[in-house]
Amino acid sequence: MCGIVGYVGQRKVGDVLLKGLSRLEYRGYDSTGVAYFKGAHIEVKKSEGKLRNIEEMVKRDPSADRLQCGIGHTRWATHGRPTTQNAHPHRTNHIVLVHNGIIENFESIRADMIKLGHSPASETDSELFGFLVLEEEKKGTDFPTSVQNAFRHLEGACSVVVMSEKQPGLIVGVRNGSPLVVALDPQGGAVFASDAQPLLEYTREVFFLEHGDMAIGSEKGITFRDIRTGKEVKREKTLLDWSADKLDKQGFPHYMLKEIFEQPLTMVDTLNGLLDRARTDPFPMAQQPGLAILEKAEEIIFIACGTSWHAALLGKYWLERWAGIPVSVELASEFRYRDPVVRRGTVIIGISQSGETADTLAAVNDMRRRGIPTMAICNVRGSTMSREVDATFFTSAGPEVGVAATKTFYAQMLAVFIMAGYLGLRRGRDTASKIPHIFQQLLKVPHMLESQLQQDGKFVKQIKEVAKRVVAQKGFFFVGRGYSFPISLEGALKLKEIAYVHAEGYAAGELKHGPIAMLDEDMAVVVLAPKDGWHEKTVSNLQEVKARGARIIGIGNPDDDKMKRFSDEFIPLPMPVGGESLDESLYPFLLAPAIQLLSYEIALLKGTDIDQPKNLAKSVTVE
Ligand code: F6R
Repeated sequence: MCGIVGYVGQRKVGDVLLKGLSRLEYRGYDSTGVAYFKGAHIEVKKSEGKLRNIEEMVKRDPSADRLQCGIGHTRWATHGRPTTQNAHPHRTNHIVLVHNGIIENFESIRADMIKLGHSPASETDSELFGFLVLEEEKKGTDFPTSVQNAFRHLEGACSVVVMSEKQPGLIVGVRNGSPLVVALDPQGGAVFASDAQPLLEYTREVFFLEHGDMAIGSEKGITFRDIRTGKEVKREKTLLDWSADKLDKQGFPHYMLKEIFEQPLTMVDTLNGLLDRARTDPFPMAQQPGLAILEKAEEIIFIACGTSWHAALLGKYWLERWAGIPVSVELASEFRYRDPVVRRGTVIIGISQSGETADTLAAVNDMRRRGIPTMAICNVRGSTMSREVDATFFTSAGPEVGVAATKTFYAQMLAVFIMAGYLGLRRGRDTASKIPHIFQQLLKVPHMLESQLQQDGKFVKQIKEVAKRVVAQKGFFFVGRGYSFPISLEGALKLKEIAYVHAEGYAAGELKHGPIAMLDEDMAVVVLAPKDGWHEKTVSNLQEVKARGARIIGIGNPDDDKMKRFSDEFIPLPMPVGGESLDESLYPFLLAPAIQLLSYEIALLKGTDIDQPKNLAKSVTVE
């Protein structure tokens, strides 16, 4: 959940740490800090709040040493309030450290350390690790070995990166659970980070640490150890296909907007990754690992959280219709603590853009330990989930910086859509006969969308205007049926998380079973009703809403006069030029940008921190 960065080499350490942390702020931004060597002394600078609070301090006080060495941290508070005192790095005598994750046995460690005469200065679990290292050093071991032995006392998923004033120029990082990635600086030295993004600045060749790995970085390079055996081990490099220029805002006011606009490209990249476009088969699936597992599936259970759970719900609709496979969609945080009954022949598929979400990881792992085949849909190569399951379908959305998921959701929808299409054809079901035709239409969607997703384009301008007229509504319902239902849930989640407006997603048919009591002129109802098999039913729900005086924002086909008539505001979906119709199964790919942009424009008018909404973090590596 927090972000870690570390550097040893010849570049200016302050600059490397600040740049690295700016790439990681999406992981948490309650407080920030850095520590770097000045001679034999380690200088610590930290503050509550965002990175900008320490930027000036660091720039004004550069380390002039020949060898530059330091660590940095951006925090998402778990143990202890978001104060400067609790901010990382934590110093204990000559030991300075940063930590990500949770030390579950921190209360007993804290009691033991106090008994041994240590006085914690913060409320965090992290600081205790420094005392453990000091205690290990008393036994006569060197600095890396003391870190290794101290780490063995910890329970829970976490990673730590540590420096010692007694060993200038050495950075020791240990991982168990929470991710840690390291790379060699081509100019000499090593870079550490809690995800690969900061490393892309310097190289695309990175090492993802395994659970229980230690990396020791110095001017000379990096060595790895297995902390259980204490022996040196070799680790393989991963070549990342993300380039650093993808990380900049490229002139957009927010990453979120840039990422919404990148969705056509995401679609192309993901299609290219999953399909063999050189083939002209009815379904040119590329040789993905996991196809054999999927083909044997008698039942599928998707496990996910948040937005990824919404993508899974869509998967249920597509898979059941085309492939006739029973599909359940589970919230990871519930599933893992239930006593799920999983039949023989079931395949578990974890959906997680980061591949690091603690609940999803744990739920999928429980199933794997029971001998059930597991797969993942992930956006991050080398992520924990992708390495732990039997096979992964990788999406190709590239790095997503905005905390609210947009293009990664888009890519996840596409991955489950492709799974469903492939299995439908393999199983030769009647409902699958249209699939080759639908896939031909799908290939046109990116071009169609790209022409609409322009800042000065009609689609975007219309949504901007609607947002201005509805921004003052007290609350919002997003309703839809069929494929539009999961998108309604996603619309409500986006609005809540970035605009801080109360919103609920509902199956349109459920409104009258309770929530309709809340409707009056202060409420807005966003009705997702493209011309699909559910259209008539949704339009009749819309009339129930209209009768209660709520403000209706209709989203539908541009030629839908009925919808236009009944809606107070109408957002026409982007459609192929020339009036060619699209199969209904493709509507989610048009609806998603509409609800994302509506939420974005409302948030913009409210003046919220769109890329880094309060209380959130991008990668939820705690339960
Ligand atoms: C919402 C959002 C979250 C994530 C959820 C799961 O915009 O981003 O709801 O979808 O935390 O994250 P991943 O997909 O990384 O497992």
